[in-house]
Amino acid sequence: MPTIIDGKATSAQIRAELKEKTAKLKADTGIIPGLAVLLVGADPASQIYVNSKEKACKEIGFNSIIKRMPADSSEKDVLAVVEAWNNDPAIHGFIVQLPLPKHIDEDKVINAVSPDKDVDGFHPASLGRLVIGLPCFVSCTPAGIMELFKRYNIDMKGKHVVVLGRSNIVGKPIANLLYQKTPEANAVVTICHTGAKDFSVYTKQADILIAAVGVPDLIKAEHVKDGVVVIDVGINRVDDDTKPRGYRLTGDVDYAQVAPKASAITPVPGGVGPMTIAMLLSNTFKSASGELK
Ligand SMILES: NC(=O)c1ccc[n+]([C@@H]2O[C@H](COP(=O)([O-])OP(=O)(O)OC[C@H]3O[C@@H](n4cnc5c(N)ncnc54)[C@H](OP(=O)(O)O)[C@@H]3O)[C@@H](O)[C@H]2O)c1
Repeated sequence: MPTIIDGKATSAQIRAELKEKTAKLKADTGIIPGLAVLLVGADPASQIYVNSKEKACKEIGFNSIIKRMPADSSEKDVLAVVEAWNNDPAIHGFIVQLPLPKHIDEDKVINAVSPDKDVDGFHPASLGRLVIGLPCFVSCTPAGIMELFKRYNIDMKGKHVVVLGRSNIVGKPIANLLYQKTPEANAVVTICHTGAKDFSVYTKQADILIAAVGVPDLIKAEHVKDGVVVIDVGINRVDDDTKPRGYRLTGDVDYAQVAPKASAITPVPGGVGPMTIAMLLSNTFKSASGELK
């Protein structure tokens, strides 16, 4: 049986550690980490994420600021909030919940966030620093994956990692983190996407497979080799009449097929997902405590 990489338990552990560090920071310096979230519109999934971020902040002693704006807010009004938060010393990090309504240019908003408070790690300056190996805010899902490798003692050095997916928030940053010449990385990385004629040519060679494609159960047993470590980033809703909500969540990996071949695997839910909020809190703590400077 594979090792189950338990993101839920690891996230709880990280949040408990942060709670202690926050109390110490406050006692030593009077600083209380402040995380702000801007939610424009009423996207139901975004509302759930924002509520859970607020709850997580409160549990560990952070100040949490949530600003909700109507869906028809202008780009100018959104940029004004970003500008105000860039200059607010009580806010150590903030995020603009995506997706934004269609009439607002997401890139323009992301670019307006000060890289010093970019705890989502989405600003081009953050990604650029990541690529050349400088200290930066690492976007939260890739940071969570790296933390899982560390805490489960999965040695990356010289391993062949295949990353399926090249999004700016998952695929590109995790691939770039893993080939860095650092003790926690130093892997050989292949990136796959829809341009690959047959992704299984690559995935079958993976010592470690990271799937971030958003296609339910795409990866089957025949796509991986024995002993592979599988990180399933996908969070996909599939209709399921047997569930009270009418759907269930599934990853990009067919867990029932792939788990028996794997040496370690993340479940969905309860794998990478819970790590994302933990790393958002961790980034905010780093900003408040000056760890990144
Ligand atoms: N756990 C978390 O906290 C967390 C965070 C973020 C995302 N997610 C989940 O992770 C998944 C990916 O999210 P994302 O934002 O990275 O996705 P995205 O922006 O939609 O990008 C998907 C990537 O997968 C590639 N792809 C799609 N279908 C493919 C196929 N059949 N074969 C090969 N490559 C394929 C796409 O290739 P092209 O570039 O060629 O189009 C693209 O690069 C989603 O299920 C999302 O919900 C989870």
